[in-house]
Amino acid sequence: MSMEQQNRESQLVERVVTSFDNTPDPRLKELMQALTRHLHAFLQEVRLTEQEWQRAIEFLTAAGHITDDRRQEFILLSDVLGASMQTITLNHEAYRNATEATVFGPFFVEGSPEIELGGDIGAGASGQPCWVEGTVTDTHGNPVPHARIEVWEADEDGFYDVQYGDDRVSARGHLYSDGDGSYRFWGIAPTPYPIPHDGPVGRLLAATGRSPMRASHLHFMVQAEGFRTLVTHIFVRGDELLNRDSVFGVRDSLVMDFEPQLAGSPTPDGRDLGDRAWSQVRFDIVLAPAAAAHEEA
Ligand code: BEZ
Ligand code: FE
Repeated sequence: MSMEQQNRESQLVERVVTSFDNTPDPRLKELMQALTRHLHAFLQEVRLTEQEWQRAIEFLTAAGHITDDRRQEFILLSDVLGASMQTITLNHEAYRNATEATVFGPFFVEGSPEIELGGDIGAGASGQPCWVEGTVTDTHGNPVPHARIEVWEADEDGFYDVQYGDDRVSARGHLYSDGDGSYRFWGIAPTPYPIPHDGPVGRLLAATGRSPMRASHLHFMVQAEGFRTLVTHIFVRGDELLNRDSVFGVRDSLVMDFEPQLAGSPTPDGRDLGDRAWSQVRFDIVLAPAAAAHEEA
C-alpha cells in the first residue's frame, strides 16, 4: 500500500477520534474513541468491500426488524459472538471459590411462583423428574440462610413455558435456603435445545457452519443480602454439547453429575414416582461478598 493511501486511512481514523474530544462524559468519550479505533482497525485489517458493508447493514436492519418486546435479536447476536459471556466474565471477577457466573438468557420471568423447600417447580412441564439439592454458603463455608434461589429451565422438548404461546407457568419458581443454608427441590432433567434461530442470527450460524444448540442446563439466580447476585446454570456431565454451546456459557466448574436412578428406587423425600425413572444432582453454591469486585481475590 502506498504511503499516500496509508496516510489517508490513518488521518481519517484520527479525525473521527478527535471528533469525540469534547464529550462531556469522560467514560462515553473513552468508549467512543476506543470503539472508533477498533472498528477502523477491523475495516482496515479485512479491507472491507462496499458489498460486504452493504450486507452488514442489511443484517443489522433485519435484526432490528425481528426485534420486539418478546424477541431480542441483538442480545442473541452478542451471545453467539461471545460478547455477552465476555461482559459477564469481566464484571464478575474470579473471587476465591465463589461459584462462576454465566449468561442470563432471555427466558427469565419476574414473579415466578414460590415453592417450598422440597417442592416441585415442574407444574406439568414434560420431563424426567430430577431432585436438586445443595447448600448456599459464603466463601469461608458459612451457611447463607434465606438466600432467594430462582430456578428456570426448558421442558424435555426444549421449550420454556414462555414459548408455549399461552399463559402457562411451568418449570420455573423460587425458593429460599433453609436456616442451615441448604435447599432442595424437584425439577426436571435438563435437555439440549436451540437458541431462536429463525432470524438473521440463525442464518449467520448456518452460514458459518455453527449449531444453534445450547448444552443442557438448569438456570439459577441466587440473591442474598450482602452478597454479589449470582446468575448461573448447571450443566450435565457427559452432554456431548458441552464443548460447543452456541453462546459459550459452559464453565468446567458448572458441569455437574446428574445421577440417573431406576424407576422404583427410593427418592430422597419419599415421594412415590410410580414407574418413572428419575435423577438427582447436588449443586453447592458459594456466594462472593457484594464488595468482591473491589477486594483482592
Ligand atoms: C438460555 O439459556 O436460555 C439462552 C441463553 C442465551 C441465548 C438464548 C437462550
Ligand atoms: Fe436456558
